[in-house]
Amino acid sequence: MQVLDFRSDTVTRPSPRMRQAMAAAEVGDDGYHEDPTVKRLEEMAAEMLGFERAVYMPSGTMTNQVALLVHTRRGQEVIVTERAHVYEYEPGAMANLAGLSPRFVPASYGVPEPEDVRYAIHDSPHQAPTGLIALENTHNAAGGTVVPLEAQRAVQAVAREAGLPVHLDGARIFNAAVALGVEGRDVAAGFDTVSVCLSKGLGAPVGSLLLGPAELEGEIRRYRKMLGGGMRQAGILAAAGIIALQEGPQALVRDHAMARELGEGLVKLGLEVDLRSVQTNMVFASVADAPAFAARLRRAGVLINAVGPARVRFVTHRDLPDEAVTEALSRIENALA
Ligand SMILES: Cc1ncc(COP(=O)(O)O)c(C=O)c1O
Repeated sequence: MQVLDFRSDTVTRPSPRMRQAMAAAEVGDDGYHEDPTVKRLEEMAAEMLGFERAVYMPSGTMTNQVALLVHTRRGQEVIVTERAHVYEYEPGAMANLAGLSPRFVPASYGVPEPEDVRYAIHDSPHQAPTGLIALENTHNAAGGTVVPLEAQRAVQAVAREAGLPVHLDGARIFNAAVALGVEGRDVAAGFDTVSVCLSKGLGAPVGSLLLGPAELEGEIRRYRKMLGGGMRQAGILAAAGIIALQEGPQALVRDHAMARELGEGLVKLGLEVDLRSVQTNMVFASVADAPAFAARLRRAGVLINAVGPARVRFVTHRDLPDEAVTEALSRIENALA
């Protein structure tokens, strides 16, 4: 029985084409910015997403945290949507490394109201001053939900009025673009910096990019080095990242269709799924006991994550076979019987 792994879109293995490109990659010392493959990836990403510069790093946590470091100073607050990855799942780096506190704003389906963002901005001697506003698109903990472009623009306008920078955690920016029927660069527009992951749905084994203006490049590279992200012959990894950017985005259409089919199938089995939140490649279900539910499915050959005491998450991705959803639903039905 083949195990069906719905835990995350990070479990994918590099494709044969990626492995060939990795083996053949031209490399140099990226510490001296002399790795031609890393440079090609960075130039390609910058061009694709409409930025002057892109800097390659090992992870999305690092690209997010470097962005916080370049935009803020210690003691400030960062306005983030509730349950934002940049605070909740980046082991307190914001506080530990950058000396920042999060200021959460409500965000139904990951979408904040501009008025809530405006009221969250502090600029008085009695409170920690706001240093940055950060959005997340797609919004992982909200269900892989999409923040519409108008909502992004409304928050960007509030930020500009207040003279604040805006960062986008676009770990899954291409999922958002596919769901909205626009280009990645449309989702990236209007932000000062954008973090993009190559190793989520796009299938690369490693790597994220921080996009920003030329004037921030030096600072970005310095903080990357400070956090231990200065790599050497990283072209071996970047070679797979180039293919991820070339082939990954259009392949997400299938992931989204699978998630929809899975969500609807789970509802038919009597599970509690908010189908409004099934907008990209994630399906969250409410269950009585999430760890017990996940363990039961594991025994049936379906891997998922418990993401709360009563909440489980399924994620679709390119390494799942075409019949994965039908097969998983049948195994789940049997497991629950
Ligand atoms: C929205 C979001 N941002 C950032 C990250 C961090 O990426 P990494 O695991 O590469 O550090 C993730 C990882 O899942 C994520 O979902």
